[in-house]
Amino acid sequence: MADSNNFQVAIDGPAGSGKSTVAKIIAKRFNLIYVDTGAMYRAVTLYAKMNGIDYENEQEISDRVTFISIKFLPADPVQKVFLNGEDVTEEIRSKEITNNVSLVSSYKKVRDEMTARQREMTSSNGVVMDGRDIGTTVLPQAQVKIFLVASTLTRAQRRFLENKKKGLDQSLSSLEEDIKQRDYKDSHRLISPLKKADDAIELDSSNLTVEQVVDKISSIISRRLKTINQS
Ligand code: DC
Repeated sequence: MADSNNFQVAIDGPAGSGKSTVAKIIAKRFNLIYVDTGAMYRAVTLYAKMNGIDYENEQEISDRVTFISIKFLPADPVQKVFLNGEDVTEEIRSKEITNNVSLVSSYKKVRDEMTARQREMTSSNGVVMDGRDIGTTVLPQAQVKIFLVASTLTRAQRRFLENKKKGLDQSLSSLEEDIKQRDYKDSHRLISPLKKADDAIELDSSNLTVEQVVDKISSIISRRLKTINQS
């Protein structure tokens, strides 16, 4: 029997491709822990803001990153994120943090520290981890790697609807522009850029419902588990 304690599913892809929505469902279905790595980079970015550190100040952020406590607490419908003991689940999703997280997450020391913490989270649990560099850098040995994409317009439309529910007002065209900029920064940084791993399976969610994406990934996982159990 494949041991669910060391089974790893990596889901990478650009902002708004639906990674976190499907990763959460997959985690429940296969009894795995869900790790939202983007939330960790967002928490480091918020730490800089709260402590009056300029986002451009790589040295100061790098000097402090090992002392930043980031914890996840399971909750419905969204997992809670704690930064140095404070619930920052909502704050890490603000426009200011979203617009600056690509820069902060490009710093080597920040990436090294977060990568080490992410690997540590797999030591006693099977995981579904979503991010940009999970299949390429964090868990290159993951048994299942998915690269989830969607058109920029689809992704902007999804953000638009999410924002509407939260009472936030930003035009579709400006959301699309923000997404394009973040895609560019995330895929052009020097260290661990957003990139499909050679052995990842690419799925385009533009014309698929959440259930359809979940079903496709579930079949891929089930097939993989079957092969592992037979070997
Ligand atoms: O998935 P998200 O939108 O919450 O991620 C926020 C940012 O964090 C994203 O723009 C790039 C960065 N990130 C990263 O560099 N590596 C990861 N594994 C996850 C996120």
